[in-house]
Amino acid sequence: MKDQERIEIASRPRRNRKNAAMRSLVRETRVLPSDLILPLFVIEGTGQKEPVKSMPGCARLSPDKLLKVAREAFKLGIPAVALFPALDDSLKDRTATESWNSEGLLQRTVRMLKAALPELLVITDVAMDPYSSDGHDGLVENGRILNDPTLEILARMAVSQAEAGADIVAPSDMMDGRVGFLRKALDQSGYSEVSILAYTAKYASAFYGPFREALDSAPKAGDKKTYQTDPANSGEAVREVLLDEEEGADIVMVKPALPYLDVISAVRASTILPVAAYNVSGEYAMVKAAAKMGWLQEDAVVDETLTSIKRAGADMILSYFALDYCRRY
Ligand code: PBG
Repeated sequence: MKDQERIEIASRPRRNRKNAAMRSLVRETRVLPSDLILPLFVIEGTGQKEPVKSMPGCARLSPDKLLKVAREAFKLGIPAVALFPALDDSLKDRTATESWNSEGLLQRTVRMLKAALPELLVITDVAMDPYSSDGHDGLVENGRILNDPTLEILARMAVSQAEAGADIVAPSDMMDGRVGFLRKALDQSGYSEVSILAYTAKYASAFYGPFREALDSAPKAGDKKTYQTDPANSGEAVREVLLDEEEGADIVMVKPALPYLDVISAVRASTILPVAAYNVSGEYAMVKAAAKMGWLQEDAVVDETLTSIKRAGADMILSYFALDYCRRY
């Protein structure tokens, strides 16, 4: 069709944007349900659903309720869920003993999920905080977080999770040497098929606030800055990638996602391993709050956010928006 344009311009980028079909043809990035991982919070009991105040739309679920959500996720094409247990304070102690209890809440939930939905991948978090009376990811002594004694605890936890049927264990603790130590412990216990998704570049971020409310797992004293990465650094993330790769990680992760897109891209460039990104609780809460005020259009912002994370280089994204996204996909 003839038009009104009169000036000779050889390159007109707008030609590739002229309608939906054209845009679809030239689109570089698509977020598929198969790219997403759904994080879920589990609590004791049956028929229990406790909404998380700072994460509207998310709730702590008892195993029976969690199974229903997991089933929907699987039907929608989401390949994996990541489980986080919220425990009663009475079960927490200095050494996170409950974390390797084969009859513990997490272990029972994993067994139940694998029995009901064997093809859905179950990812379990390896870190002491949900089980620790100090609320830290490592063992605390005189206000210090001990590295090597923590590794022994993490190994017991990971082996117990593998024994319950976890497909992927995900160390989120940021202790030095943990990937190699867990790999060895898993292999020696007969779980060489269990994968390690390493929280490789996990930043000391203020965006975890709502998650800590969900699990009631905030540190009792101090902060996590001696083990989680400094938000000002990206070289450190690449250093951690090289170590985790050497130690046997199967997948490396950057967390949070949106404020660290440059890090995702740097990590992507530094490894051939698959890269995951965690669109964390604070990122979720911001969008929900603005949408509730009528200041942002939620669906469009979620689509754009997930797309930006994948465009930056993530092969997979953990997101509390996963279900919503797939329901309208
Ligand atoms: C704990 C852990 C945290 C998250 C995942 N695993 C919080 C923390 O390190 O304090 C955060 C997830 C989120 O904010 O969505 N090891």
